Amino acid sequence: MLDFELTRPPADFIDNPYPHYARLRERDPVHAMEGGGVLLTRYDDALAVYRDARASSDKKIEFKPKFGDSPLYEHHTTSLVFSDPPLHTRVRRLITGALSQRAIARMESDVAALVTKLLDRIAEKREIDFIEEFAAQIPIEVIGNLLDVPRAERGPLRGWSLAILSGLEPAPTPEMLERGNRAVREFIAYLEILIGERRRKPGDYESDVLTRLIQGEKDGERLTESELCHNCIFMLNAGHETTTNLIGNGMWLLLAHPAEMARLRAEAALVPSAVEEMLRCEGPIQLNNRRLTAPMALGGKDLPAGTSITIAIGAANRDPAQFPDPDRFDAARDPNRHVAFGQGAHACSGMNVARMEGRVAFSRLLARFPRIELAGAPERDRRVRFRGFRRLPVRVGER
Ligand code: HEM
Repeated sequence: MLDFELTRPPADFIDNPYPHYARLRERDPVHAMEGGGVLLTRYDDALAVYRDARASSDKKIEFKPKFGDSPLYEHHTTSLVFSDPPLHTRVRRLITGALSQRAIARMESDVAALVTKLLDRIAEKREIDFIEEFAAQIPIEVIGNLLDVPRAERGPLRGWSLAILSGLEPAPTPEMLERGNRAVREFIAYLEILIGERRRKPGDYESDVLTRLIQGEKDGERLTESELCHNCIFMLNAGHETTTNLIGNGMWLLLAHPAEMARLRAEAALVPSAVEEMLRCEGPIQLNNRRLTAPMALGGKDLPAGTSITIAIGAANRDPAQFPDPDRFDAARDPNRHVAFGQGAHACSGMNVARMEGRVAFSRLLARFPRIELAGAPERDRRVRFRGFRRLPVRVGER
C-alpha cells in the first residue's frame, strides 16, 4: 500500500498531481486513507461508483465533524449535489428545466457580445491577468443572468463562492471555515432580499432559475425557505469558479502546447473537441465524494456499508486503459469520454452551458489575437479539490 493522504499531499502535488495519481492507479487503485475512506484512481472504478445507487451523495454524517452546527453545514447538506432523492430529484428537475439546448442557444448571443467587449478591452491593455479580466467575467455574466441577479449586485458573488467552496477542502483551516461561514450568512441575507423582490415580481418560469425554484414544479411540492436559499447559493457557486477554471486552465494548456494552439487557429472547427480535452487534462473539479449505503466490491476489495469514497476525477481522466497516451494534450482527441462533469444521477446539469462558454471564449479569443503569450509567472490556486489559477499574466498581440 502506498503512503498518500489528500489531507497532507506531497509538496509538488498541486503543481503536478498526475504522477502521484498514476502511481496510485498502478499500484493501489483503491487506496485506503486515514479515517477509513478510500481514494479511487481508475476510470472504470469511478464510473462504477457514479452509476451505482448504493453510492449516496448525502453528506449529513460526513460533514458534521468538519462543520459542526454552522451555516456551512446547513448549506452543504441542503444543496442538491450533496443530497439523495427525493430532495435531489425535485431540485434537479427545477434546474434542468431551465437549461435546455434551446435556452443555452439563447444565452450564447449574450456570451458572444460580452466576450467581444472583453477582447476589445484586452486589445487596448495588451497585458492582463487572464483570470480576473477574462476567464472570471464570463461565468459571472451567465450565472447572474440565469438567476437574473441585477448586474450592479454581482460584485460580491465570486468572493462568496470562493469562500464557501473552500470549506470543502479535505483539510480546511479555521480561517477558511470562518470565511466560509461568514460568506453563507452574507449570501443568505442578500438572497432574502432578491427572493422577496422576485416573489413580488416573478420572472419567466421557462428561463429564470430563481423563479422556478421559488414556484416549484407546477403540480409538485414547493422548496422550503432553507432549501430555496441554499440551492440558489449552490447554483451561483456551481457554474462560477468551475467555468472560470475551465477557461483559465484551457489557456494555460494552449500556452504550454503552442503546436496545439496553432492547430486550433488553423482549424476553428476543432475548438469544441479542444474544450473537452481541456476538461479531461486539467479538470476544474478534481474530487467527488460518495458514501456506501450497502457493501460494494471495487478493484477486488470488499468495502462495507458506510465506506466513504473519494473519486479522483483528474486520475480517472488520465487512465491509460481508457485514454491512449493520456498525458498528451490532443485538441482533436476522439473519443474523449472524460468524467470532468461526473456521471450518473448527479452529472453536472450545467455541462452544456459550460461547454458553450468555453467554445465561445476560445474561438473568439484565438480569432482576435494571432499572438498570445505568458507575461509572467502564473500563480496556482493551492487547493486539491478545485484546480485552477489565481493569476495568469498574459500578453496579446493583434499581429
Ligand atoms: C467547466 C465547468 C464545470 C465543471 C467542471 C462542473 C463539474 C461538475 C461536477 C463534477 C458535478 C458532479 C458532482 C457530483 O457528482 O458529486 C457537477 C454538478 C453540478 N453542476 Fe457543474 N460543473 C461545471 C459548470 C457548471 C455550470 C455552468 C452550472 C450551471 C449553469 C453547473 C451546475 C451544476 C449542478 C446544478 C450540479 C448538481 C447536479 C446534481 O447534483 O444533480 N455546473 N458539476
